[in-house]
Amino acid sequence: MSIDDLKLWFLQLNQLLEQQQVYWRLQPMQQNDLPFSDHSLNQLLLSFSLEQCDAIDQSPALQQQYFAVFFPELFAALPKLPYFAPQGLTLPFWLSTDIGGRKWQQISLFAEAVGKPGLKVLEWCAGKGHLGKVLCFAYQNKVTSLEWQAELCQQGQHSADKLKLQQLFIEHNVLTAQTQPVLAGIDQLVALHACGDLHRVALTAGVAAHCAELHVLPCCYHLQQDEWYQPLSTLALTSSLRLSRAELKLAVQGQNTAGERVRRLRHTEVLWRRAYQLWQSEQSGSPLYRNLPSTGKHWFSGAFTDFAQWAAAQHQLEWPLGQDGECYLVQAERLLLLQRRIELVQHLFRRPLELWLVLDRALYLAEQGYQVQLQQLCQASVTPRNLLLSAYR
Ligand SMILES: C[S@@+](CC[C@H](N)C(=O)[O-])C[C@H]1O[C@@H](n2cnc3c(N)ncnc32)[C@H](O)[C@@H]1O
Repeated sequence: MSIDDLKLWFLQLNQLLEQQQVYWRLQPMQQNDLPFSDHSLNQLLLSFSLEQCDAIDQSPALQQQYFAVFFPELFAALPKLPYFAPQGLTLPFWLSTDIGGRKWQQISLFAEAVGKPGLKVLEWCAGKGHLGKVLCFAYQNKVTSLEWQAELCQQGQHSADKLKLQQLFIEHNVLTAQTQPVLAGIDQLVALHACGDLHRVALTAGVAAHCAELHVLPCCYHLQQDEWYQPLSTLALTSSLRLSRAELKLAVQGQNTAGERVRRLRHTEVLWRRAYQLWQSEQSGSPLYRNLPSTGKHWFSGAFTDFAQWAAAQHQLEWPLGQDGECYLVQAERLLLLQRRIELVQHLFRRPLELWLVLDRALYLAEQGYQVQLQQLCQASVTPRNLLLSAYR
Protein backbone atom coordinates (compact mmCIF):
# COMPACT_ATOMS: atom_id res chain seq x y z
CA MET A 1 0.00 0.00 0.00
CA SER A 2 1.43 3.37 -0.95
CA ILE A 3 1.45 6.20 1.55
CA ASP A 4 -0.94 8.12 -0.74
CA ASP A 5 -3.45 5.23 -0.62
CA LEU A 6 -3.18 5.13 3.15
CA LYS A 7 -3.70 8.88 3.41
CA LEU A 8 -6.70 8.87 1.12
CA TRP A 9 -8.38 6.07 2.99
CA PHE A 10 -7.63 7.64 6.36
CA LEU A 11 -9.10 10.99 5.25
CA GLN A 12 -12.23 9.28 3.96
CA LEU A 13 -12.76 7.49 7.29
CA ASN A 14 -11.91 10.62 9.24
CA GLN A 15 -14.52 12.63 7.37
CA LEU A 16 -17.12 9.93 7.90
CA LEU A 17 -16.42 9.68 11.63
CA GLU A 18 -16.43 13.46 12.03
CA GLN A 19 -19.66 14.00 10.10
CA GLN A 20 -21.60 11.17 11.70
CA GLN A 21 -20.60 11.70 15.32
CA VAL A 22 -24.21 11.80 16.52
CA TYR A 23 -24.53 8.13 15.65
CA TRP A 24 -21.54 6.80 17.55
CA ARG A 25 -20.44 9.31 20.20
CA LEU A 26 -23.23 8.57 22.63
CA GLN A 27 -23.87 6.34 25.59
CA PRO A 28 -26.65 3.93 24.65
CA MET A 29 -27.11 2.76 28.23
CA GLN A 30 -28.04 6.25 29.36
CA GLN A 31 -30.75 6.93 26.78
CA ASN A 32 -34.45 6.77 27.64
CA ASP A 33 -35.56 6.95 24.01
CA LEU A 34 -34.15 6.52 20.52
CA PRO A 35 -31.89 9.57 20.08
CA PHE A 36 -31.88 9.68 16.26
CA SER A 37 -33.82 12.22 14.23
CA ASP A 38 -34.33 10.00 11.17
CA HIS A 39 -37.90 8.70 11.42
CA SER A 40 -37.42 5.77 9.01
CA LEU A 41 -34.31 4.66 10.85
CA ASN A 42 -36.18 4.75 14.16
CA GLN A 43 -39.07 2.76 12.65
CA LEU A 44 -36.66 0.12 11.48
CA LEU A 45 -34.95 -0.08 14.89
CA LEU A 46 -38.30 -0.38 16.67
CA SER A 47 -39.16 -3.41 14.54
CA PHE A 48 -36.16 -5.40 15.85
CA SER A 49 -36.40 -7.91 18.69
CA LEU A 50 -33.48 -8.54 21.04
CA GLU A 51 -32.57 -11.70 19.12
CA GLN A 52 -32.59 -9.81 15.82
CA CYS A 53 -30.40 -7.10 17.32
CA ASP A 54 -27.87 -9.73 18.40
CA ALA A 55 -27.90 -11.45 15.03
CA ILE A 56 -27.49 -8.21 13.04
CA ASP A 57 -24.81 -6.92 15.38
CA GLN A 58 -22.66 -10.00 14.75
CA SER A 59 -23.09 -10.06 10.98
CA PRO A 60 -21.50 -7.53 8.60
CA ALA A 61 -23.77 -8.87 5.82
CA LEU A 62 -26.94 -8.19 7.85
CA GLN A 63 -25.63 -4.79 8.92
CA GLN A 64 -25.19 -3.89 5.29
CA GLN A 65 -28.58 -5.35 4.30
CA TYR A 66 -30.48 -3.22 6.84
CA PHE A 67 -28.40 -0.08 7.15
CA ALA A 68 -26.65 0.58 3.82
CA VAL A 69 -29.61 2.67 2.72
CA PHE A 70 -29.21 4.98 5.76
CA PHE A 71 -25.40 5.13 5.76
CA PRO A 72 -24.19 4.70 2.16
CA GLU A 73 -20.89 6.57 2.80
CA LEU A 74 -20.10 4.29 5.70
CA PHE A 75 -20.32 1.13 3.65
CA ALA A 76 -18.48 2.77 0.77
CA ALA A 77 -15.62 3.68 3.13
CA LEU A 78 -15.09 0.03 4.03
CA PRO A 79 -13.24 -1.34 0.99
CA LYS A 80 -12.57 -5.01 1.20
CA LEU A 81 -9.20 -5.49 2.80
CA PRO A 82 -7.42 -8.52 1.37
CA TYR A 83 -7.38 -11.70 3.41
CA PHE A 84 -4.11 -13.49 4.01
CA ALA A 85 -4.02 -16.53 1.72
CA PRO A 86 -2.42 -19.38 3.66
CA GLN A 87 -0.67 -22.17 1.80
CA GLY A 88 -1.00 -24.36 4.89
CA LEU A 89 1.77 -24.53 7.46
CA THR A 90 2.09 -28.13 8.55
CA LEU A 91 2.72 -28.31 12.27
CA PRO A 92 2.79 -31.37 14.52
CA PHE A 93 -0.26 -31.75 16.79
CA TRP A 94 1.85 -31.79 19.96
CA LEU A 95 2.98 -28.22 19.37
CA SER A 96 -0.58 -27.05 20.02
CA THR A 97 -1.06 -28.88 23.35
CA ASP A 98 -3.09 -26.73 25.79
CA ILE A 99 -3.97 -24.14 23.14
CA GLY A 100 -7.62 -23.60 22.18
CA GLY A 101 -8.68 -24.24 18.58
CA ARG A 102 -9.29 -20.63 17.55
CA LYS A 103 -6.18 -19.38 19.32
CA TRP A 104 -4.10 -22.02 17.54
CA GLN A 105 -5.55 -20.96 14.19
CA GLN A 106 -4.51 -17.34 14.86
CA ILE A 107 -1.04 -18.36 15.94
CA SER A 108 -0.35 -20.63 13.00
CA LEU A 109 -1.77 -18.12 10.48
CA PHE A 110 0.28 -15.29 12.00
CA ALA A 111 3.41 -17.46 11.90
CA GLU A 112 2.82 -18.39 8.28
CA ALA A 113 2.11 -14.78 7.30
CA VAL A 114 5.38 -13.45 8.76
CA GLY A 115 7.68 -16.49 8.95
CA LYS A 116 11.06 -16.53 7.20
CA PRO A 117 13.93 -18.86 7.87
CA GLY A 118 16.78 -17.95 10.17
CA LEU A 119 15.64 -14.61 11.59
CA LYS A 120 16.28 -13.16 15.02
CA VAL A 121 12.80 -12.45 16.28
CA LEU A 122 11.52 -10.51 19.25
CA GLU A 123 8.12 -11.67 20.49
CA TRP A 124 6.42 -8.77 22.29
CA CYS A 125 4.11 -9.47 25.26
CA ALA A 126 4.49 -13.15 24.57
CA GLY A 127 2.30 -14.80 27.20
CA LYS A 128 3.56 -18.40 27.15
CA GLY A 129 5.24 -17.64 23.82
CA HIS A 130 3.19 -19.93 21.62
CA LEU A 131 3.79 -17.80 18.53
CA GLY A 132 7.52 -17.69 19.22
CA LYS A 133 7.51 -21.44 19.65
CA VAL A 134 5.98 -21.94 16.20
CA LEU A 135 8.44 -19.50 14.61
CA CYS A 136 11.35 -21.40 16.20
CA PHE A 137 10.00 -24.74 15.15
CA ALA A 138 8.84 -23.97 11.61
CA TYR A 139 11.44 -21.39 10.53
CA GLN A 140 14.42 -22.14 12.76
CA ASN A 141 14.16 -18.60 14.12
CA LYS A 142 16.00 -17.50 17.22
CA VAL A 143 13.26 -16.01 19.34
CA THR A 144 13.41 -13.78 22.39
CA SER A 145 10.05 -13.68 24.13
CA LEU A 146 9.27 -10.70 26.36
CA GLU A 147 6.64 -11.11 29.05
CA TRP A 148 6.18 -9.44 32.41
CA GLN A 149 4.54 -12.34 34.24
CA ALA A 150 7.24 -14.52 35.76
CA GLU A 151 5.04 -17.59 35.84
CA LEU A 152 4.26 -17.39 32.11
CA CYS A 153 7.98 -16.95 31.38
CA GLN A 154 8.81 -20.04 33.44
CA GLN A 155 6.12 -22.14 31.79
CA GLY A 156 7.11 -20.93 28.32
CA GLN A 157 10.82 -21.54 28.94
CA HIS A 158 10.14 -25.00 30.33
CA SER A 159 8.16 -25.94 27.24
CA ALA A 160 10.77 -24.44 24.85
CA ASP A 161 13.62 -26.27 26.62
CA LYS A 162 11.74 -29.56 26.48
CA LEU A 163 11.36 -29.14 22.71
CA LYS A 164 14.99 -27.95 22.40
CA LEU A 165 13.90 -24.73 20.71
CA GLN A 166 16.04 -21.61 20.46
CA GLN A 167 13.58 -19.53 22.45
CA LEU A 168 14.62 -17.40 25.38
CA PHE A 169 12.09 -15.82 27.73
CA ILE A 170 12.90 -12.54 29.41
CA GLU A 171 10.81 -11.20 32.27
CA HIS A 172 10.40 -7.64 31.09
CA ASN A 173 7.89 -4.83 31.49
CA VAL A 174 7.74 -3.30 28.02
CA LEU A 175 6.22 -0.07 29.34
CA THR A 176 8.83 0.73 31.94
CA ALA A 177 12.06 -1.14 31.15
CA GLN A 178 14.66 -0.08 28.58
CA THR A 179 13.79 -1.60 25.22
CA GLN A 180 16.99 -0.81 23.26
CA PRO A 181 19.01 -3.71 24.74
CA VAL A 182 16.35 -6.31 23.88
CA LEU A 183 15.87 -4.87 20.39
CA ALA A 184 19.57 -4.82 19.50
CA GLY A 185 20.31 -7.11 16.56
CA ILE A 186 16.68 -8.08 16.08
CA ASP A 187 15.42 -8.64 12.49
CA GLN A 188 11.74 -8.93 13.19
CA LEU A 189 9.42 -7.81 15.96
CA VAL A 190 6.12 -9.67 16.32
CA ALA A 191 3.19 -8.79 18.59
CA LEU A 192 0.07 -10.91 18.59
CA HIS A 193 -2.85 -9.35 20.45
CA ALA A 194 -0.87 -6.81 22.39
CA CYS A 195 -3.30 -4.29 23.87
CA GLY A 196 -3.31 -0.48 23.38
CA ASP A 197 -0.16 0.95 24.90
CA LEU A 198 1.68 -2.35 24.56
CA HIS A 199 1.54 -2.46 20.76
CA ARG A 200 2.00 1.32 20.46
CA VAL A 201 5.29 1.00 22.33
CA ALA A 202 6.20 -2.02 20.18
CA LEU A 203 5.90 0.18 17.09
CA THR A 204 7.71 3.24 18.43
CA ALA A 205 10.48 1.14 20.02
CA GLY A 206 10.82 -0.97 16.85
CA VAL A 207 11.12 2.17 14.74
CA ALA A 208 13.66 3.74 17.12
CA ALA A 209 15.75 0.54 16.92
CA HIS A 210 15.53 0.56 13.08
CA CYS A 211 14.04 -2.91 13.21
CA ALA A 212 13.78 -4.29 9.66
CA GLU A 213 10.32 -5.85 10.07
CA LEU A 214 7.42 -5.14 12.41
CA HIS A 215 4.28 -7.25 12.52
CA VAL A 216 1.47 -6.33 14.86
CA LEU A 217 -2.05 -7.65 15.31
CA PRO A 218 -3.46 -4.95 17.58
CA CYS A 219 -6.28 -5.31 20.08
CA CYS A 220 -7.97 -3.41 22.95
CA TYR A 221 -7.06 0.08 21.71
CA HIS A 222 -8.60 1.59 24.86
CA LEU A 223 -6.13 -0.07 27.21
CA GLN A 224 -3.89 2.95 27.49
CA GLN A 225 -2.67 5.05 30.38
CA ASP A 226 -3.73 8.41 28.93
CA GLU A 227 -7.36 9.45 29.18
CA TRP A 228 -7.15 10.77 25.59
CA TYR A 229 -5.91 9.08 22.46
CA GLN A 230 -2.52 10.36 21.29
CA PRO A 231 -2.27 10.03 17.49
CA LEU A 232 0.99 8.70 16.10
CA SER A 233 0.87 10.01 12.52
CA THR A 234 0.98 13.65 11.42
CA LEU A 235 -2.30 13.22 9.53
CA ALA A 236 -4.20 11.90 12.55
CA LEU A 237 -2.77 14.77 14.59
CA THR A 238 -4.63 17.19 12.33
CA SER A 239 -7.98 15.42 12.86
CA SER A 240 -10.60 17.17 14.96
CA LEU A 241 -11.49 13.83 16.52
CA ARG A 242 -10.31 13.80 20.08
CA LEU A 243 -11.00 10.32 21.30
CA SER A 244 -11.51 9.46 24.94
CA ARG A 245 -10.54 6.12 26.37
CA ALA A 246 -14.25 5.21 26.60
CA GLU A 247 -14.73 6.05 22.92
CA LEU A 248 -11.74 3.94 21.90
CA LYS A 249 -13.51 1.00 23.44
CA LEU A 250 -16.13 1.16 20.71
CA ALA A 251 -13.58 -0.27 18.26
CA VAL A 252 -13.68 -3.61 20.08
CA GLN A 253 -17.17 -3.58 21.54
CA GLY A 254 -19.94 -6.13 21.37
CA GLN A 255 -18.26 -8.62 19.09
CA ASN A 256 -17.81 -12.08 20.37
CA THR A 257 -16.91 -15.48 19.13
CA ALA A 258 -18.54 -17.22 22.10
CA GLY A 259 -20.92 -20.14 21.66
CA GLU A 260 -24.68 -20.00 22.18
CA ARG A 261 -24.63 -21.05 25.87
CA VAL A 262 -22.04 -18.46 26.87
CA ARG A 263 -23.95 -15.80 24.94
CA ARG A 264 -27.19 -16.67 26.73
CA LEU A 265 -25.49 -16.52 30.12
CA ARG A 266 -23.97 -13.17 29.24
CA HIS A 267 -27.39 -11.86 28.23
CA THR A 268 -28.90 -13.00 31.55
CA GLU A 269 -26.04 -11.36 33.43
CA VAL A 270 -26.53 -8.00 31.69
CA LEU A 271 -30.30 -8.14 32.26
CA TRP A 272 -30.05 -9.07 35.94
CA ARG A 273 -27.41 -6.48 36.69
CA ARG A 274 -29.60 -3.87 35.05
CA ALA A 275 -32.69 -5.01 37.00
CA TYR A 276 -30.73 -4.95 40.25
CA GLN A 277 -29.44 -1.42 39.50
CA LEU A 278 -33.04 -0.24 38.99
CA TRP A 279 -33.99 -1.55 42.44
CA GLN A 280 -30.80 -0.17 43.97
CA SER A 281 -31.32 3.34 42.60
CA GLU A 282 -34.92 3.27 43.83
CA GLN A 283 -33.63 2.41 47.31
CA SER A 284 -30.93 5.07 47.32
CA GLY A 285 -33.02 7.70 45.51
CA SER A 286 -30.07 8.29 43.20
CA PRO A 287 -29.99 7.36 39.49
CA LEU A 288 -26.24 6.84 39.77
CA TYR A 289 -24.95 3.43 38.77
CA ARG A 290 -23.15 1.66 41.63
CA ASN A 291 -20.33 -0.59 40.67
CA LEU A 292 -20.78 -4.32 41.27
CA PRO A 293 -17.77 -6.64 41.21
CA SER A 294 -17.60 -9.32 38.56
CA THR A 295 -18.74 -12.69 39.79
CA GLY A 296 -18.92 -16.38 38.90
CA LYS A 297 -21.09 -17.28 35.92
CA HIS A 298 -22.94 -19.91 37.99
CA TRP A 299 -25.12 -17.15 39.48
CA PHE A 300 -26.71 -16.56 36.09
CA SER A 301 -28.07 -20.05 35.62
CA GLY A 302 -29.77 -19.92 39.04
CA ALA A 303 -32.58 -17.70 40.34
CA PHE A 304 -32.65 -13.92 39.96
CA THR A 305 -33.45 -13.41 43.66
CA ASP A 306 -30.29 -15.28 44.74
CA PHE A 307 -28.21 -13.01 42.54
CA ALA A 308 -30.10 -9.93 43.80
CA GLN A 309 -29.41 -10.93 47.42
CA TRP A 310 -25.74 -11.31 46.65
CA ALA A 311 -25.66 -7.97 44.79
CA ALA A 312 -27.49 -6.14 47.58
CA ALA A 313 -25.02 -7.50 50.14
CA GLN A 314 -22.15 -5.99 48.08
CA HIS A 315 -23.76 -2.59 48.69
CA GLN A 316 -24.59 -3.27 52.36
CA LEU A 317 -28.28 -3.48 51.43
CA GLU A 318 -30.80 -6.21 52.03
CA TRP A 319 -32.93 -7.61 49.22
CA PRO A 320 -36.48 -7.83 50.67
CA LEU A 321 -37.88 -11.28 51.41
CA GLY A 322 -40.73 -12.09 49.03
CA GLN A 323 -39.60 -9.56 46.39
CA ASP A 324 -39.36 -11.60 43.17
CA GLY A 325 -37.95 -8.65 41.21
CA GLU A 326 -40.33 -9.22 38.29
CA CYS A 327 -41.19 -5.53 37.84
CA TYR A 328 -37.48 -4.62 37.70
CA LEU A 329 -36.79 -7.42 35.25
CA VAL A 330 -39.55 -6.25 32.93
CA GLN A 331 -38.26 -2.67 33.06
CA ALA A 332 -34.68 -3.85 32.54
CA GLU A 333 -35.73 -5.90 29.51
CA ARG A 334 -37.33 -2.79 27.96
CA LEU A 335 -34.24 -0.66 28.63
CA LEU A 336 -31.92 -3.36 27.38
CA LEU A 337 -33.84 -3.62 24.13
CA LEU A 338 -33.61 0.15 23.68
CA GLN A 339 -29.88 0.02 24.43
CA ARG A 340 -29.32 -2.79 21.92
CA ARG A 341 -31.25 -0.97 19.21
CA ILE A 342 -29.12 2.15 19.68
CA GLU A 343 -25.95 0.08 19.82
CA LEU A 344 -26.92 -1.51 16.53
CA VAL A 345 -26.37 1.87 14.89
CA GLN A 346 -23.39 2.82 17.05
CA HIS A 347 -21.66 -0.47 16.27
CA LEU A 348 -21.77 0.23 12.52
CA PHE A 349 -18.95 2.63 13.29
CA ARG A 350 -16.69 0.26 15.21
CA ARG A 351 -14.89 -1.11 12.13
CA PRO A 352 -14.38 2.39 10.63
CA LEU A 353 -13.04 3.51 14.00
CA GLU A 354 -10.76 0.49 14.28
CA LEU A 355 -9.49 1.09 10.73
CA TRP A 356 -8.93 4.77 11.57
CA LEU A 357 -6.78 3.69 14.53
CA VAL A 358 -4.86 1.07 12.56
CA LEU A 359 -4.33 3.49 9.66
CA ASP A 360 -2.91 6.00 12.13
CA ARG A 361 -0.31 3.37 13.04
CA ALA A 362 0.23 2.46 9.37
CA LEU A 363 0.73 6.11 8.39
CA TYR A 364 3.16 6.60 11.24
CA LEU A 365 5.22 3.64 10.02
CA ALA A 366 5.08 4.91 6.43
CA GLU A 367 6.26 8.35 7.60
CA GLN A 368 9.19 6.60 9.28
CA GLY A 369 10.25 5.12 5.94
CA TYR A 370 8.59 1.71 6.13
CA GLN A 371 6.70 -0.06 3.37
CA VAL A 372 3.39 -0.93 4.98
CA GLN A 373 0.99 -3.79 4.39
CA LEU A 374 -2.44 -4.23 5.95
CA GLN A 375 -4.47 -7.40 5.63
CA GLN A 376 -7.07 -9.49 7.41
CA LEU A 377 -5.34 -12.47 8.92
CA CYS A 378 -8.47 -14.57 9.30
CA GLN A 379 -12.26 -14.44 9.33
CA ALA A 380 -13.83 -12.43 12.15
CA SER A 381 -15.34 -15.64 13.52
CA VAL A 382 -11.81 -16.77 14.44
CA THR A 383 -11.07 -13.41 16.05
CA PRO A 384 -12.71 -10.04 15.33
CA ARG A 385 -9.29 -8.45 15.98
CA ASN A 386 -7.94 -9.75 12.71
CA LEU A 387 -6.05 -6.78 11.22
CA LEU A 388 -2.42 -7.65 10.62
CA LEU A 389 -0.23 -4.59 10.18
CA SER A 390 3.19 -5.35 8.70
CA ALA A 391 6.00 -2.89 8.04
CA TYR A 392 9.24 -3.48 6.14
CA ARG A 393 12.15 -1.10 6.18
C1 LIG B 1 -3.55 -10.66 25.33
S1 LIG B 1 -2.10 -11.40 25.97
C2 LIG B 1 -1.34 -11.93 24.48
C3 LIG B 1 -0.33 -13.02 24.71
C4 LIG B 1 0.23 -13.65 23.43
N1 LIG B 1 0.89 -12.68 22.60
C5 LIG B 1 -0.87 -14.35 22.68
O1 LIG B 1 -1.43 -13.83 21.74
O2 LIG B 1 -1.20 -15.45 23.11
C6 LIG B 1 -1.13 -10.04 26.45
C7 LIG B 1 0.12 -10.42 27.22
O3 LIG B 1 0.83 -9.22 27.52
C8 LIG B 1 1.39 -9.34 28.82
N2 LIG B 1 1.66 -7.98 29.32
C9 LIG B 1 0.78 -7.09 29.79
N3 LIG B 1 1.40 -5.95 30.14
C10 LIG B 1 2.72 -6.14 29.91
C11 LIG B 1 3.87 -5.33 30.09
N4 LIG B 1 3.76 -4.10 30.56
N5 LIG B 1 5.06 -5.82 29.73
C12 LIG B 1 5.15 -7.08 29.21
N6 LIG B 1 4.11 -7.89 29.03
C13 LIG B 1 2.89 -7.44 29.37
C14 LIG B 1 0.32 -10.08 29.58
O4 LIG B 1 0.84 -10.67 30.76
C15 LIG B 1 -0.16 -11.09 28.55
O5 LIG B 1 0.58 -12.28 28.61
